[in-house]
Amino acid sequence: MVPARRLQGRVALVFGAGSSGPGWGNGKAAAVQYAREGAAVVAVDQFTAAAQETADIIRLEGNAAIAQQADVTSAESIGRAVEATLAQYGRIDILHNNVGITDMGALEDITEARWKKVMDVNLSSVYRSCRRVIPVMRRQGRGAIVNISSIAAVLINPYPYYSYYASKAALNQFTKALAVQYARHGIRANTIMPGLMKTPMVEKQIVGQHGDAAEMQRARDAMSPMGRQGDAWDVARAAAFLASDDAAYITGVCLPVDGGLSCLAG
Ligand SMILES: NC(=O)c1ccc[n+]([C@@H]2O[C@H](COP(=O)([O-])OP(=O)(O)OC[C@H]3O[C@@H](n4cnc5c(N)ncnc54)[C@H](O)[C@@H]3O)[C@@H](O)[C@H]2O)c1
Repeated sequence: MVPARRLQGRVALVFGAGSSGPGWGNGKAAAVQYAREGAAVVAVDQFTAAAQETADIIRLEGNAAIAQQADVTSAESIGRAVEATLAQYGRIDILHNNVGITDMGALEDITEARWKKVMDVNLSSVYRSCRRVIPVMRRQGRGAIVNISSIAAVLINPYPYYSYYASKAALNQFTKALAVQYARHGIRANTIMPGLMKTPMVEKQIVGQHGDAAEMQRARDAMSPMGRQGDAWDVARAAAFLASDDAAYITGVCLPVDGGLSCLAG
């Protein structure tokens, strides 16, 4: 099915647009989905090759994209990606913050450096990119921010990742504050809370909590009310909706994309 071109003429800046393994991660799929719906995309990743791969896919499909290397733990690096976007396309309509990492372990083993790293990558990164991009959106009088949170912001699951729970909960609240403060400037801000998604990142960061990859996939499918995990495209389609004018009156929402997982908590 050919997607509606509801983002025609828009420019999307996607941080974390690569994938941590072969296949489709949430950020890579979102970048491609934005392009399929008409947006010109700036695919940003800490790894040039990962950003380039996503931009190449978009261009091969006949849509517009450039790749940009940036590290979201650096305001200067984010600034360079923003400047490159403005130089190439002249505006930023969609800011998509996808970068997120987990850090598992008993609390006694989580050093302050490890704690701070997750907060920096998952939460302060979004403060940095929003701080840099919101003035651009204010000048334009419009903009949509999509932050990738997690259902772990509101639910505790069997995984011991304290900094991840805390950073994603804070990201939700930060996004709601943005939504209210900038509502009158034409800027909307929402989060997506993916549930159990079958993405390459899980094979790297979560598999250690299970016997092996096959056992992990079985367990995660079984935990999901639909009997299967979601995938990166479920997140990507929700992001394109939230970024589009179809969501013109939706701001400050933390949208579960979890196949009903969050309902189990009552
Ligand atoms: N897969 C799941 O089950 C699941 C569930 C809930 C939430 N999420 C969220 O989805 C997001 C990640 O999804 P994904 O599938 O795209 O992951 P991914 O790891 O495949 O891709 C993230 C990309 O971000 C890049 N990156 C990492 N650190 C960076 C940095 N400092 N600066 C710039 N780029 C950096 C990586 O190189 C990678 O290409 C995270 O926010 C995660 O918390 C995933």
